[in-house]
Amino acid sequence: MTPLPPTPTLETRRLILRPLEPGDTPAIQRIFPQWEVVRWLHASVPWPYPPDGAETHVTQCLEARARGEKFHWAITLKGSDELRGRIDLWRFDGRNRDMRGFWLDPELHGQGLMTEAAEAVTGYAFEVLEWPWLYLTNAVDNRASARVKEKQGAVEVARERHAYVSGEIDRQVWLLTREAWLARRAGRPA
Ligand SMILES: CC(C)(COP(=O)(O)OP(=O)(O)OC[C@H]1O[C@@H](n2cnc3c(N)ncnc32)[C@H](O)[C@@H]1OP(=O)(O)O)[C@@H](O)C(=O)NCCC(=O)NCCS
Repeated sequence: MTPLPPTPTLETRRLILRPLEPGDTPAIQRIFPQWEVVRWLHASVPWPYPPDGAETHVTQCLEARARGEKFHWAITLKGSDELRGRIDLWRFDGRNRDMRGFWLDPELHGQGLMTEAAEAVTGYAFEVLEWPWLYLTNAVDNRASARVKEKQGAVEVARERHAYVSGEIDRQVWLLTREAWLARRAGRPA
């Protein structure tokens, strides 16, 4: 498969999404290991989170980045370069219907910030990369994550068992098409 291009910097009204870098390790180690952040993430996240968890994670991301496999963004608030969350995007591998992941510092939840970040990343996928659709997922109990998808115009297409940090539970699989997303943005019916 052709390697993906370098991760671009994206700007929204309140955020700068910039490529993840090694200097983000301390912020991740400080913010990420909280139950409300990790409980509905994939079971491959080590829990309890080890002291070198962020370092291992950033190294793995940068290796995947060097192979052109994924985009990894640090979410920062305008006016500060400090990482406050993460959002990633990757191609469909033909098997796992999941192409985006995100988490945000709990201090910033409920302000519409992840919707803003997700819209920027989705715009990049549909308008620049011209991908036809995105498969998105979340644990069924993760209402905040599901709401981000609903607000973007995604449609639930399946439920399946999935291994999360908090155990094996159902996950929702969503499909967001380029056509539906562009129509919503333009104020047209999909
Ligand atoms: C999921 C997450 C990124 C959302 O970030 P956020 O910036 O708070 O999201 P937004 O504010 O853009 O949107 C959240 C929406 O969910 C709603 N919401 C939040 N908690 C909710 C709940 N318990 N029940 C119903 N709706 C809820 C909010 O009201 C908002 O919807 P609205 O705009 O219609 O009011 C954040 O909760 C998080 O980091 N969670 C931990 C990591 C995680 O679960 N990642 C996703 C894995 S799939």
